[in-house]
Amino acid sequence: MANEAKEMLGDVFTPSPEIVANATVKSFEEMTRLADKDLQTFWGARAEEFEWFKKWDKVLDDSNKPFYKWFVGGQVNIAYNCLDRHVKTWRRNKLALIWEGENGDLRTFSYHALNREVCKFANVLKSMGVKKGDRVTIYMGRVPELPIAMLACAKIGAVHSVVYGGFSVEALHGRIEDSQSSVVITCDGSYMNGKIVELKKIVDEALKRAATVEHVIVYKRTGHEVYMEQGRDYWYHELVALPIARAIGNNRCDTEVMDAEDPLFLLYTSGTTGKPKAILHTHGGYMVGIATTLQWVFDLKEEDRWWCSADPGWITGHSYIVYAPLLLGATSFMYEGAPTYPYPNRWWSMIEKYGVTVFYTAPTAIRGLMRFGEAWPNRHDLSSLRLLGTVGEPINPEAWKWYHRVIGKQRCPIMDTWWQTETGMFMITPLPVVNLKPGSATRPFPGIEAEVLDETGKPVKPGEEGFLVLKRPWPAMLRTIYGDPDRYVNQYWSKYPGVYFTGDSARKDEDGYFWIIGRVDDVIKVSGYRLGTAEIESALVSHPAVAEAAAIGLPHEVKGQAIHAYVLLKQGREPSDALIEDLRQHVGHEMGPIAKPEKITIVDKLPKTRSGKIMRRVLKARAQGLPEGDITTLEE
Ligand code: WTA
Repeated sequence: MANEAKEMLGDVFTPSPEIVANATVKSFEEMTRLADKDLQTFWGARAEEFEWFKKWDKVLDDSNKPFYKWFVGGQVNIAYNCLDRHVKTWRRNKLALIWEGENGDLRTFSYHALNREVCKFANVLKSMGVKKGDRVTIYMGRVPELPIAMLACAKIGAVHSVVYGGFSVEALHGRIEDSQSSVVITCDGSYMNGKIVELKKIVDEALKRAATVEHVIVYKRTGHEVYMEQGRDYWYHELVALPIARAIGNNRCDTEVMDAEDPLFLLYTSGTTGKPKAILHTHGGYMVGIATTLQWVFDLKEEDRWWCSADPGWITGHSYIVYAPLLLGATSFMYEGAPTYPYPNRWWSMIEKYGVTVFYTAPTAIRGLMRFGEAWPNRHDLSSLRLLGTVGEPINPEAWKWYHRVIGKQRCPIMDTWWQTETGMFMITPLPVVNLKPGSATRPFPGIEAEVLDETGKPVKPGEEGFLVLKRPWPAMLRTIYGDPDRYVNQYWSKYPGVYFTGDSARKDEDGYFWIIGRVDDVIKVSGYRLGTAEIESALVSHPAVAEAAAIGLPHEVKGQAIHAYVLLKQGREPSDALIEDLRQHVGHEMGPIAKPEKITIVDKLPKTRSGKIMRRVLKARAQGLPEGDITTLEE
């Protein structure tokens, strides 16, 4: 049945009649028309799906552009809609989360159990004096206590700032300091590739440089010995066992009433400067945007088992591991470790074991696993799958076709979702009923208006490359950069006044399909992880041997892009292989292993403009043997 169910017209894949019959949204076009006719009614109807403590007065307030407000006057709490709402119904007995540790540990949580754990931990946070609006940094491995901690913060109105567990001292320190967090939640360590990542040790080192933190809560995952500072550090399991965690209403904890526009979380992401931006998302609009997109794009049903393989420390994990699946009352699977541990069939074996029906991952992971050959997935029964997805970078048609054929057995449409930390939710994406072209994220989600513009702000002709912009606000949009509203305006709304600039270049074809090309700013996507050249450069320059550094991204077969760095040494320092290795290690220590440059070249000059700005574009062209372009501003 499989093969003829899908008709292949050149490189267009049309969905099977079964897929169409099953789909929640039958017509992309009709939904788009509906949203275009009246955006506010469209999103207002989506918001009606949730429980509000008080209904909004207005869906969209655009009186102070670009500081848009959604569901103004409404009162709500996203955590209430993730948990409290479901435990009142039969869903209290449904599995919310199935978790497998890298070492094979298995834990499951019904909605009832997850709610109980969240309540206990919320009570702990309250007893530590965490209040509405306070910032809490979460730096953990991929364990269930990570979503529990996020939800506990949301429940009491605290603002979480999750720092990816693969980041290291300097990255963590900067994020704690910028958010002025009073509490850090971490683990003793996490398992990755059979090894222990020393999370607590990194926290200890980062805290030597951060003054705001009063308490550290440590979840025991690995059980290896860690330093615990008296009066500052507490074990998670000891705290949740205290009467205070359970005292209030028998494992209960009241959910804070929030304004729709109250902050939910900060998530740091790389931009064009060395200082990461704290992207701010809120309770109301974010909730409506992410739940609607997950439901329509991945068509989640009660009986589905959803697996988003991202890390909760990135936006993909925030929106589509933690919040949106719970909002929909879905069952999620979450895995702790590396996809190749102990063998390259780990992921496929878990799809079989848990009967995963919808699987969402990144092109880099697909390319990485493709290298090991088809025998690994072919050992497993993957017939539970019905839909696949990708995110994070453009997917090359070769990887798309492998994913489609070997994993999806030509039955499962692939939802290539384009979006950003800033957008909060899928923006350019197919729905299951849409014809697919490998490598294209297809069209804007209903209600979203995207365009490709030239330098002067005019739409380019079909097939031509230009800058990708979004022309209308959307509910899950970032509200600002925390603590830096000017940067929010300059970064996103100034290149073309009144229009959101994505930082990506793209093409639109004759059918209105969007083809994302990549970043046009100084952001590098390494294995889908977003890193700023400036952050890598400042890590390099913090090494005593380095005078100046420039980092660029060059194409890489598996990672998509890899970091190449050019380093100018201080006077009297001699280049050597040992020094280069030391520099790589140094960047790893400061930023995290993902930021270690693939290659470091010692140079005695960097191409600069006359005003002293490093011309990374020139370095990039030279490295690839391409024309250097306009170099009139290059100094002698
Ligand atoms: C890129 C990740 C092509 C893009 C959710 C964007 C993509 C950046 C896709 C945001 C896709 C994301 N096709 N490129 N389907 N999805 N990107 O903030 O360059 O980590 O601007 O959010 O990833 O990265 P971020």
